[in-house]
Amino acid sequence: MDLNLKDKRALITGSSKGLGYATALGLAKEGCKVAINGRDEAKIKGAAEKLSKETGTQIIGLVGDASLPDVPARLIQQTVEAFGGLDILITNTGGPKPGSIDSLDDDTWQKGIDLCFMAHVRLIRSALPHLRKSDAASILTVTSFTVRQPLPNLLISNSVRSATIGLTKSLALELGREGIRVNSILPGWTETERVTELLNARVKANNSTLEDEAKRQAAEIPLGRMGQPEEFANAAIFLVSPAASYITGTMLNVDGSVVKGVY
Ligand SMILES: NC(=O)c1ccc[n+]([C@@H]2O[C@H](COP(=O)([O-])OP(=O)(O)OC[C@H]3O[C@@H](n4cnc5c(N)ncnc54)[C@H](OP(=O)(O)O)[C@@H]3O)[C@@H](O)[C@H]2O)c1
Repeated sequence: MDLNLKDKRALITGSSKGLGYATALGLAKEGCKVAINGRDEAKIKGAAEKLSKETGTQIIGLVGDASLPDVPARLIQQTVEAFGGLDILITNTGGPKPGSIDSLDDDTWQKGIDLCFMAHVRLIRSALPHLRKSDAASILTVTSFTVRQPLPNLLISNSVRSATIGLTKSLALELGREGIRVNSILPGWTETERVTELLNARVKANNSTLEDEAKRQAAEIPLGRMGQPEEFANAAIFLVSPAASYITGTMLNVDGSVVKGVY
């Protein structure tokens, strides 16, 4: 199947490593021009160089914290200046601080809201004038399976990402007539540094080893293992591509069926 992604122009935030990086790599292999982003300048430049060497396509590395109010508009502007427009926006960031209702203060909640919700709002708002000029406009928000099956001690993620799901569906309904598709992927346990961090917290709490915790987690997943970032990326690349032209307003679990409910 031809995904028809050649020469499409994409921005994916939170992409110097993990799910974002794997998706940027996949898009670049399909011939997209890709802008990637992260907060650490050395890491994002290194990732951009690596991607460009490996795929031979135009890659730019943009430094900035997507959770800050003024950064999303700048990231969009830099992408459009470099590529002459924008067809694909993938809104992704790092995960919020873990914690329970007793341990999380207002400031930590607000940071989680900026990271897991407002970054998506601001990126999409700034991107829309450019996406409206594209004949293959697509937005993908990256959320989490925890909106369907909350995880203990991840109260901010469990709560705030539901707002991003509401945003995604609302925009799919509003923007469909303009030919702009809006979807979300709800990743399950996928082997990235974020997961290692979460498992390390369990190692401390349970006085166990990382290997024990990884095995215990994998045993709860019907496919019997965690996912690989490329498995997330394959779904993301299809959803944002013109090959998925009749798919909008979809919240897709890519989770090995760790979510046990039907919906
Ligand atoms: N992996 C999983 O199993 C899983 C499951 C469900 C949901 N998720 C969610 O999916 C998202 C991506 O996860 P991941 O596993 O790929 O995480 P990761 O391995 O920690 O990678 C996160 C990426 O985002 C960048 N980043 C973090 N905060 C940022 C910010 N404020 N602005 C711009 N860039 C930022 C990081 O670079 P810098 O640190 O240099 O900024 C890095 O490139 C997270 O929100 C995570 O919670 C992941």
